[in-house]
Amino acid sequence: MLNINGLTACYGESEILHDIHLSVPDGKIIALVGRNGVGKTTTLKSIMGLVRSPKGSITLAGEELQKKPPYERARMGIGYVPQGRDIFPQMTVAENLRLGLEVCGGKKQDPTELYRLFPIVEKFLPRKGGDLSGGQQQQLAIARALIAHPKLLMLDEPTEGIQPSIIQEIGHAIRTINEKTGLSILLVEQYLDFALDLADECYVMDKGQIVLHVKSGEADKDEIQQYMLAS
Ligand SMILES: Nc1ncnc2c1ncn2[C@@H]1O[C@H](COP(=O)(O)OP(=O)(O)OP(=O)(O)O)[C@@H](O)[C@H]1O
Ligand SMILES: [Mg+2]
Repeated sequence: MLNINGLTACYGESEILHDIHLSVPDGKIIALVGRNGVGKTTTLKSIMGLVRSPKGSITLAGEELQKKPPYERARMGIGYVPQGRDIFPQMTVAENLRLGLEVCGGKKQDPTELYRLFPIVEKFLPRKGGDLSGGQQQQLAIARALIAHPKLLMLDEPTEGIQPSIIQEIGHAIRTINEKTGLSILLVEQYLDFALDLADECYVMDKGQIVLHVKSGEADKDEIQQYMLAS
């Protein structure tokens, strides 16, 4: 589904990502883990076209994304849930959800399946986004990305600052949508157990490079944990 080859990314003159190779096969959940500041968010932003990436290629279902603007990448089927969720606090849940439809030209979608995955989204439709809890906002942000039926869903630390029971609900929703629809998912996480539990494969990033790539079932947690500790 997604193939990244030899990617670099820069903020101004400083190169943040160096020669990244990463693949998300069709229908798989792939985790990208690493400690604070190693370049996980920058990787997702590069895929979305939000950061300058002068070298390398990024293909989605065989089509090159480099040089395409962010809205076109979204339209081609990338759903992106940024870190910190980014919902609009003054807009209602229903309005926030409707924004997700812009990607598919505002075309109406049947939200039944989404409401089954995230009952609180339906329950709180008239409520202001800002009045939801952090975990509920995260669920809304994921629902907003899913409403346009992306081919690839990218989640940036969906468990950050969220209570355990809602983390479980989010994990369950991610697994369900992957199993039911075969949606490919790139999951950025620092919560290693959550990532390994959900993902088929795991990439570990350190200082802007991929330093390890393992199948989750064969992962040596202690080895990964070494990279997760602050250096
Ligand atoms: N807009 C920016 N301008 C300049 N440098 C930036 C910018 N955004 C991020 N950086 C730097 O790029 C590096 C990678 O940041 P990034 O946000 O990708 O890390 P991360 O792995 O997502 O960290 P976290 O787990 O804390 O979210 C860091 O050193 C950070 O300070
Ligand atoms: Mg980040």
